[in-house]
This record gives sequence, C-alpha cells and structure tokens, in this order.
Amino acid sequence: MNALARRAAQAIRTARKTVALTGAGISAESGIPTFRDPGGLWDRYDPEEYATIDAFRRNPAKVWQMMKDFTALKTARPNPGHVGLAQLEHMGLLHCIITQNVDNLHQAAGSRHVIEFHGNMRQVICQQCGQVLPMEEISLDTLPPYCGCGGVFKPAGVFFGEPIPPQALARAYAEARTCDLMLVIGTSAVVYPAADMPWVAKEAGARVIEINPERTDLTGQITDLIIQEKAGVVIPQILAEIKAMAS
Ligand code: OAD
Repeated sequence: MNALARRAAQAIRTARKTVALTGAGISAESGIPTFRDPGGLWDRYDPEEYATIDAFRRNPAKVWQMMKDFTALKTARPNPGHVGLAQLEHMGLLHCIITQNVDNLHQAAGSRHVIEFHGNMRQVICQQCGQVLPMEEISLDTLPPYCGCGGVFKPAGVFFGEPIPPQALARAYAEARTCDLMLVIGTSAVVYPAADMPWVAKEAGARVIEINPERTDLTGQITDLIIQEKAGVVIPQILAEIKAMAS
C-alpha cells in the first residue's frame, strides 16, 4: 500500500496543477452513508420518490421530512481524508476540489477552494421568487417551509432533473481542462456531468489517480493508478509520504 501512496505522493509533488473530484465515499468514514454501496441511501430511499425535482414538486413535505430525519448530515465531522485534502491545499499542492457532496465537510476541514457541483444544504431557495436564505433562518416545524411570497423553499442541493449550478459547472470544466493531475476520490463516477470531469481532464493530457476501495467505470479505461483503500486511510499516508520527500 505504501508503495502506491508513494507513487501518488510523487505525482502530486511533480504536478503543475492538481484537482480533486470527490464523492460520497470520502464522507463515508464520517458516518454519512453513500448512495450506491450496499445499504446505501438509494437502497433505503427510492431516488424516484425522493431525489428528483418532480418528486419534490409533487410532495415537498415528504422530501423535506426525509432530509430533516437525515441527522447524519448535521452531526458529521470531517475525517482524516477531508483534513488531508485541506492540508494539501494549504501546502500549495491541491488547486481545488470539485465535490458532488452537499455535506460541507471539505469546508469544515479547512479547504477554501471547493466547487459544490451538486449545490449545498446550507441554503434554501424559494421555488417561486428565487430568494436564497441560510437553512438555519427558516423554521422546519411545519413542512414544507414557505417563503413570504407564498412559494415553497427547496434545499439548495441539486435534485435529479435540475441543472447543475451554472457557475459551478463552468468552473469545474475549466479546472478539469487545465489540470495535469486529477484525484478521483470516493465516487462511483456514474452520475453525469460530474463523472465527465476525469474524462475531460484525461483528454487534456492529465493523469488520473483513483482512491476507492472498489473499481469504477474509470478504472482500466482512463485511470493511471488506483489505490483500493479507504480515503481516510490513504490520504494521510500520501501526505506523510509528501512530507517525508520534502524533508
Ligand atoms: P456513490 O454512492 O455512487 O459512490 C460512492 C463511492 O465511494 C463508491 O465507488 C464506493 O466504492 C466508494 N467508497 C465507499 N467508501 C469509501 C471510502 N471510505 N473511501 C473512498 N471511497 C469509498 O456516490 P457518488 O459517486 O458521490 O447526486 O454519487 C454521485 C451522485 O449520485 C451524488 O452526488 C448524488 C447521487 O445521486 C445527487 O443527488 C444529484
């Protein structure tokens, strides 16, 4: 394992610009279930009923109730994987993170350049007038929450059938096109357009390193190196290797 961590460390040290694409797997060790692993969220909740914008429009109270019950999102803390990526950024070795996660844990760990590809759960958006408010400023005592204009508030996370926030989309493509190393961490890489990022990076000449206990659709196609280990284990190892190389 350390030999692979060393290879990743070497690649990061020598890269001109490293960008990370992260998914639910990086937060698994913080106690947040992933979507598609056995026992994951989509085993427990049918995405057609809870995760599409049509489902939200049909029954916003039901979708809000599921989110309110999902306490892991509120109590989770960053794990060594998040912390390690934040340290890499502070060392000038990680340009930014494109994350599909809405859990805010990269920011909580200290990462400053985070592109929230699937939005966030810190804010709500009125479906009628477009007003954006911090989540904690609205009452969830009766669901769904309503805006003063009479519209329903929706969490600012992206639902299936909704567009990716345009700024995040543009920035992510730009970063993917201009990096020369992409770390793909804890994502099954099946949801597009997020899963496009490693392909865009590869086409532009970047190397691709995956950190994931399981192989993905990228593995064996565009991945140069896969470290089949938990992110919270291997990212600190990579960091330790980088520090050892620098001293
Ligand atoms: P998935 O649940 O599809 O994939 C999670 C990945 O993390 C899998 O490939 C696991 O093998 C891997 N994994 C599990 N534990 C890990 C660990 N400790 N360290 C590293 N990797 C680990 O989650 P995403 O790829 O993030 O979108 O899913 C993408 C999108 O699908 C989500 O953003 C969400 C969902 O529907 C929306 O809701 C719009």
